Formats: sequence, structure tokens, C-alpha cells
Amino acid sequence: MNIQWFPGHMAKTRKQITEDLKLVDIVYELVDARIPLSSRNPEIDKIAAGKPQIIVMNKSDMADPEENKKWVQYFKSQNLEVVCVSSSDGSGIGTLLNLTDALLKEKYKHNAEKNIVKDKPKVMIVGIPNVGKSTLINKLCKRAGAKTGDKPGVTRQKQWVSTTNGMLLLDTPGILWPKFENPETGIKLAFTGAIKGEILDIEELSVHLVDFFKENYTENFMKRYKLTTLEKQSFEILDEIGKNRGCVVKGGEIDYNRVANILFDDVRFLNVGRITFEFPEEANV
Ligand code: G4P
Repeated sequence: MNIQWFPGHMAKTRKQITEDLKLVDIVYELVDARIPLSSRNPEIDKIAAGKPQIIVMNKSDMADPEENKKWVQYFKSQNLEVVCVSSSDGSGIGTLLNLTDALLKEKYKHNAEKNIVKDKPKVMIVGIPNVGKSTLINKLCKRAGAKTGDKPGVTRQKQWVSTTNGMLLLDTPGILWPKFENPETGIKLAFTGAIKGEILDIEELSVHLVDFFKENYTENFMKRYKLTTLEKQSFEILDEIGKNRGCVVKGGEIDYNRVANILFDDVRFLNVGRITFEFPEEANV
């Protein structure tokens, strides 16, 4: 999905999500475990204020396991509730549901004291495009294949679907806009496929990716592309990968577009290993 976000869209989305939030007991804020801060919407804390909220670090199966642990600690140190999950293989979903129960327990207790018959707890999922909202909804409800994505701010019919543990989930997630202001954030969002071709073209992006691998996961990167040194300019490394991979066109020129596609496919299919693109130590605390 490639949504263009204009101020009007953002205002409409904010209004719609604020309305929907009135109907739920708890919010799952999905972030990409590979970029847990860059994939957070800048206004989510304001929009969801007053509701119990869980940060769901999705795609944790693609992120560095050690960094996942550090990010969990980081969010906890900020007094935020957090769980690592993989919506595609289902890991962490049990923990998410248990945490939800625990957070809502107080509320249930209050209802029981007042003899209020409590409906099933209601949950809403919010997050930026491509973070895995539809996949998580399908997993929680054991449905297959339904794409629940929507255009931002478009009015739609509300539907509740039952989760396997007896909660009700709003069928349509809240699609939030990503952070645009900082170019670094834009690059990380593009690395993970959260935004596509909007910030930079793929060739330019591949230079940034090599810059990243010169500093991080160097062993995996060198092994994957049979490189003997990273003490070179990034474009020279791209040349070498191009030659090793036969991405050479007539006249001996390197086809940088093909090289870039190889790199991004390798990241996507974990051929360079599980990669985290930002680290809690760098977070502005
Ligand atoms: P959205 O509703 O938030 O927009 O995201 P959606 O569920 O459509 O998921 C986006 C892509 O991310 C999908 O891949 C989906 O399979 C993948 N995905 C979601 N959750 C996880 C997860 O926990 N782990 C992994 N490894 N992948 C996950 P896709 O259809 O191939 O889309 P794309 O990658 O071509 O954009």
C-alpha cells in the first residue's frame, strides 16, 4: 500500500481513530520490531491517551533477537507495556493475550463490584501501513487471507470479530501516518518496506543500506556477498557485489538497479540474517 498523506488525510484519520477508540477497552499499537521508534506514529500517545495501550513489536521474527530484548527493556523503562510478536508465525500472541487480560483485570474488578455485566473486552489495532495489522487481525481471529487495509480517513462500516480467546476486535484497524520529518527515519522506513519509493529511489537507498552494513552486521554482510573488506566507499562495494552477482550490462557497466533489488530482496528474505535497523542506545531518552 502506498498512501500519500496530506494534512487533510491526517486530520480525518485522527478524528476517525479518536471516534473508534471510544468504543474499545484497549489499544494495540503495532510497530515494526526492526525499527521500533521510526515506525511509531508521532501522535499516537496523544490520540490513544487514557486507554490502556500495548506496544506490539511485530515482525520480531525478522529482527535481531538480542535487540528485541533490549527494545522490550527500553519501552518498559519508559513505563510502556510491550510484547514481541510475529503475526505471521503466531509467536508471542499468547503473551499478548495474557498481558491484555492482566491490564483489563482492574476494569473487570470494578465492573464486578458495581454489578455491571461486562461485555467481551474490545480491542483495536492501530499502526502505520505495512506493519502487519491485517496479518495480526487474521491471526487473532484465525482467519485466512482477508486484507483489512483501507484508505486513510475513509468512513467505513464498523464490524467486530471474535478473537480466539473471546475478545472482540475491531475488524478495521486504524491506519496511522508514519513520521516524515527526519530523513534518517524515512530511510529506515524505506529499508523495511513501510514506505515505498517515496523518499528515495532504490539505487540511492542501496547506498544507505551499504553504509548501514559497513557499521552493523558486517560479518553476515561480507559473507553473503563474498566481500573481503568493507574499507571502501559504499558505491565501490556496490560495484563489487554487482560484479560478483553478474549484474553487468553491455560495456561492463554495473546495473545498479539490479544490485539494489538483490540487496533489498536479501534483507526481506532474511538472507543476511535477522536485522534490526535502529538501536535503543541511540534513542533520545
Ligand atoms: P498492514 O495491514 O499493516 O498494512 O500490513 P499487512 O498485514 O498487510 O502485512 C504487510 C506485510 O508484512 C505482509 O507481507 C505480511 O505477510 C508481512 N507480515 C506481517 N506480519 C509479519 C510478521 O510478524 N513477520 C513477518 N515476517 N512478516 C509479517 P506481504 O504480503 O509479502 O507484503 P509485502 O512484504 O510485499 O509488502
